[in-house]
Amino acid sequence: MIVAVTNQKGGTGKTTTAISLAGALGQMGRRVLVVDLDPQANATLHSGLMPEEQEHTVWTAIQQAGQSEVERLDDRDLRSILDSLWDTQSFNPSLIPIVHHPNDNPYDLVPCNLELSEADLVLASSVSRERRLATVLAPVQPEYDYTLIDCPPHLGILTLNALTAADSVIIPLETAFLASKGMNQLFRVLLQVKQTLNYRLSVLGVLITRVDRRTTHSMHIATEARKALEHQVNVFTTEVPVNVDLADASAAGKCVTIHAPQSRGAIAYRQLAEEIEGLRHG
Ligand SMILES: Nc1ncnc2c1ncn2[C@@H]1O[C@H](COP(=O)(O)OP(=O)(O)O)[C@@H](O)[C@H]1O
Ligand SMILES: [Mg+2]
Repeated sequence: MIVAVTNQKGGTGKTTTAISLAGALGQMGRRVLVVDLDPQANATLHSGLMPEEQEHTVWTAIQQAGQSEVERLDDRDLRSILDSLWDTQSFNPSLIPIVHHPNDNPYDLVPCNLELSEADLVLASSVSRERRLATVLAPVQPEYDYTLIDCPPHLGILTLNALTAADSVIIPLETAFLASKGMNQLFRVLLQVKQTLNYRLSVLGVLITRVDRRTTHSMHIATEARKALEHQVNVFTTEVPVNVDLADASAAGKCVTIHAPQSRGAIAYRQLAEEIEGLRHG
């Protein structure tokens, strides 16, 4: 199952959710792949890797996937050309740069770096530009129970690639910045993608994050958000509290469920993992 963690706003907890959920699912024995699709490379950093040291990234794979098939077939004999025509996955899976258990985290990672910011410009005029990531991820899907895509904070070509590759989306929503207008814009884009690029797409759930139980204001906003959204989409029962251990884990290059397993952040993301497993199998 491919899940895009998305919200066009920055700082809503996308990267924290992708990594912490990957950690929780990984520790439950699920095979998890995280794809860093934000040029800021926070998921790569959060996994203990230096983005500028990554030679092979999601972007190099996307570019290779776009090379003309005909060009690549030129030097082969007729037999292998015919083989390639019957092969639905002619993209070579070994081109996908997967880092296994980065920094001993319980998931695998396709890293990225700032070079991914070229994507909007480079892909703008290319054929099937929205399907590149789907092409890249398809061959390795049998090896994973979950592929979590950490999206950038805007609705550009990269997010479109994520939504085209995904089966469903998780939308982290920070209570302090509950902009319902922004949500409507996001829902419109999801509907457009569903109608044009990817009919399978569904909303796995909205995740209310950074709830501060010490302030009635934050609690009130969380309740209101739930009421406003619940009749439109699934809102996860799990809410993620404000928890400094989540930021600490990120700085340490570890998922929170390993870095601070007893923290409230870790408990929340384990509960979210259980909730998602329940949705998936029930
Ligand atoms: N529940 C939380 N409690 C405390 N800090 C958090 C929480 N979730 C995220 N953060 C911190 O807030 C910042 C933004 O979160 P991040 O996950 O990077 O958002 P996004 O990927 O949507 O931009 C990061 O510094 C992160 O460590
Ligand atoms: Mg992020």
